[in-house]
Amino acid sequence: MTSHSEKIIILDFGSQTTQLIARRIREQKVYSEIHPYTLPLDELKAMHPTGIILSGGPASVYDEDAPISDPQIFEMGVPVLGICYGAQLMMVQNGGRVEKAEKREFGKADLVIDYTAGLFAGMETGPSHYQVWMSHGDRIEELASGFSVTATSNHSPYAALRHEQKPFVAVQFHPEVAHTLIGNDVLRNFIFGICGCKPEWTMHSFIDATVKEIQEKVGEEKVICALSGGVDSSVVAALIHKAIGDQLTCIYVNNGLMRTGESESILNFFNQKTSLQLIDVNAESFFLEKLQGIADPEEKRKRIGFGFIEIFEKEAKKLGDVKFLAQGTLYPDVIESVVFRGKAPIKSHHNVGGLPERMHLDLIEPLRELFKDEVRELGLELGLPEQAIYRQPFPGPGLGIRIMGEVTGERLHILRQADVIVLEEIRDAGWYRKVWQSFAVLLPIQTVGVMGDGRTYEHVIALRCVDSIDAMTADWSRLPYDILGRISNRIINEVRGVNRVVYDISSKPPSTIEWE
Ligand code: XMP
Repeated sequence: MTSHSEKIIILDFGSQTTQLIARRIREQKVYSEIHPYTLPLDELKAMHPTGIILSGGPASVYDEDAPISDPQIFEMGVPVLGICYGAQLMMVQNGGRVEKAEKREFGKADLVIDYTAGLFAGMETGPSHYQVWMSHGDRIEELASGFSVTATSNHSPYAALRHEQKPFVAVQFHPEVAHTLIGNDVLRNFIFGICGCKPEWTMHSFIDATVKEIQEKVGEEKVICALSGGVDSSVVAALIHKAIGDQLTCIYVNNGLMRTGESESILNFFNQKTSLQLIDVNAESFFLEKLQGIADPEEKRKRIGFGFIEIFEKEAKKLGDVKFLAQGTLYPDVIESVVFRGKAPIKSHHNVGGLPERMHLDLIEPLRELFKDEVRELGLELGLPEQAIYRQPFPGPGLGIRIMGEVTGERLHILRQADVIVLEEIRDAGWYRKVWQSFAVLLPIQTVGVMGDGRTYEHVIALRCVDSIDAMTADWSRLPYDILGRISNRIINEVRGVNRVVYDISSKPPSTIEWE
């Protein structure tokens, strides 16, 4: 959406770390975008990239269905950096040769630099070798003409390369991962030294450019936005409000499945600190009724999703002629939907799916280019409260998918009380921002306990705390035993109807973060 005068285009060949390349470059205040390797040449040219990066990928260049980008890329007169598979493809497309290595090189390797200019500028006086991260099966056997070696490693005589006349460089290692200690230097040398970019992409410039674009796109029309209380929709609302003021109306649907106190800081902020038009709909009983007797997770998700659409549509109609729907789509959602290894969705996410088509609304997605941490930075810049900005992610279907089996008012009450304790203890111990998510789950079983002289037969609460960077993978948080102990004691003592607490020690994959 935004037009950036300088940009680095990354062509994705399927590596797990492609997104990291974009992040590392944006951290240097240079704008960067990822596209599938199939991007047609004329579209690539129309983007006027300042530099192009060919990412890594799991394939072998000689595989029958190997991902191959247009070789004309090397005729564009634009600097190109090949990383891992991208380096091998650069060789093959320019007349070199790649072969299966006898030994797969995976993990840390020692890089010896022979040429301290280009990608390795500034490393003249460094140590004799540098730690880098390798992960490849094939290796380059013969250089394409015009190329020479700039660094080697034990197993890769061609660990880094440059073209002697043209601005083409390549590395067999992964500069984007933290294990490559000189990774940032290498990427900086590419974007600033070789491409000649300037570090000018900041949140401030993003806000200015985006506000202008929203104003141009919207004109005099009306925009609606579903405010969930989460970070993304709050930032979207604040940004669009800044651009078009009261042409924007936000609708907050309280589905009765929120955590205690959740959303309030956002609603208070908008009500007290801004003049945002905000419709606050209390639909608790509507949703509880829809969920009555329903135990199947997907069915619950569907009912919550459709219920939301129903209410949202009803409220939106009252506003008369609305042309646009604003959504907090983030960059990872955009890339996930273009990546070529089409994966089936594991759980149905996207709670407002289908709304724009049904209501004949055009979409405004001003965060489409941003990663989560950038959205947070943007939110702070827009003046949103820190507490709201650093809120842990919370799923659209809310506590509905943290109560296993049927959702009832009584079970919601039990879960909410336990969940408050979890959050209080996690916050008090200083772990709230260290973990990705921390929450309670109510299990559909009862177990035997003993309280005083009597036998009890009551509910079980599972505690779920995970570390993650992007929710695609996650590991259970190694919480200290004393925090676990306090949470368990308090839940069992304070929440009536619970006599057991267990800690979930599964990672994702193969488990997921939420239990349903
Ligand atoms: P899973 O359970 O798939 O969750 O590992 C990954 C991340 O996504 C959140 N999540 C959702 N977010 N609507 C959302 O907006 C949903 O339906 C939904 N389901 C899961 C989850 O909390 C975690 O952060």
